[in-house]
Amino acid sequence: MNILLLGSGGREHALAWKLAQSPTCTRLYAAPGNPGIAEEAEIVTLDAGDHAAVIAFCKSHDIGLVVIGPEAPLVDGLADSLRGADVPAFGPSQAAAQLEGSKGFTKDLCARANIPTGAYVRTASLQDASRALQGFTPPYVLKADGLAAGKGVVIAETLEAAEAALADMFGGQFGDAGAEVVIEEFLSGEEASFFALTDGKNVIPFGTAQDHKQVGEGDTGPNTGGMGAYSPAPVLTAALQEQTLETIIKPTVAAMAAAGTPYSGVLYAGLMLTQTGPQLIEYNCRFGDPECQVLMMRLQEGSGGDLAAIMLACAQGELSGVEADFSEETALTVVMAAKGYPGTPEKGGAIDLGEADGGPEGSRAKGRGTKVFHAGTKIGADGTLIANGGRVLNVTASGANVTQAQRSAYEAVDAVRFESGFCRRDIGWKEVAREG
Ligand code: AMP
Ligand code: GLY
Repeated sequence: MNILLLGSGGREHALAWKLAQSPTCTRLYAAPGNPGIAEEAEIVTLDAGDHAAVIAFCKSHDIGLVVIGPEAPLVDGLADSLRGADVPAFGPSQAAAQLEGSKGFTKDLCARANIPTGAYVRTASLQDASRALQGFTPPYVLKADGLAAGKGVVIAETLEAAEAALADMFGGQFGDAGAEVVIEEFLSGEEASFFALTDGKNVIPFGTAQDHKQVGEGDTGPNTGGMGAYSPAPVLTAALQEQTLETIIKPTVAAMAAAGTPYSGVLYAGLMLTQTGPQLIEYNCRFGDPECQVLMMRLQEGSGGDLAAIMLACAQGELSGVEADFSEETALTVVMAAKGYPGTPEKGGAIDLGEADGGPEGSRAKGRGTKVFHAGTKIGADGTLIANGGRVLNVTASGANVTQAQRSAYEAVDAVRFESGFCRRDIGWKEVAREG
């Protein structure tokens, strides 16, 4: 089967790496890709926003599956267009992608299906929102309803700060995404991510992870897209995973089907592990980045087959009986970012991967398997690798536990030469302390 992968980040490099290993995959094409993806796939020029062009490419290249990496083309309805043209697509329809595309949509669904999540109010004007604030206690959680590139959430400690943030949101800070704002109850606990694949009816668990959203060590400073992650997340015990599946994931899949908008693809639940059990913070309609990198590092060929076979089964409503087989080992990834991130990153910095990239079985870098996934990289005018974005590299390693995976990952980080880059040195710290 020929496969087309859409996207250009570290998430898509990890997917490309795994898809290219799949016996089911004959030829892998990717657009727009990046230099890491180019090692696994043939890069083609295609605009994911031009649905007719994507369909024409699929027809002329005998594509049996399109894997849509990021959320924007999903929310834009690309999966619907492909299915309408009889091209199987991994990823939800536009209607189902609202689980990520509209925070208010998801909160309403949780309310209808009795899914544990914080209390909330949807507001459509500054006046409404200011009034609704009175019903909450600090810290105030304010969320722009629509897609805001991960930046649409404000946690305000005081009423004044909340009022100011609301004024910014309704004032157009996040464009259309902020035309509605959800105000919600602050939940306390530890955060963890749970992934499931669903074909609209059948659900299979697809791993757990924890990430580090903040730019600074000790989880301080501004939020980013994620500075590192590890999988599995031991805080999500087998019992908590079961509870998440039964009280959050399955009711969501059932409610989406009942509404006539079945959800197909990966469902990524951001959870707060509260004293009363897991509660939903948010859904994403795609894999996490960099969570996908650590999931792919652990995924093995199992009874469910390889990644391409699993994704095709998911796209075709045939997930029943499929089981994903993840290694017992821990995978940990460290994001190397360009100085300035998450503000304005320095572009063009030279990168030399040296001996860091140990390949799937990891021989060159010491320790176990290491793999460097490319995120914001490009080939410069002189043919060498340079930085071309905020998050640039995802240095990923496996080990028997978080402590060992962390050690191997930082050995590989230290083998990379990237003068204009930086990374956190403490990815996995909470778990390393618990393993202590
Ligand atoms: P989101 O984009 O919805 O994942 O929110 C970004 C971050 O804000 C989350 O990872 C949490 O750390 C925090 N957050 C969001 N909603 C809540 C909530 N209801 N209570 C506490 N923290 C929250
Ligand atoms: N790393 C968080 C996300 O992909 O949303």
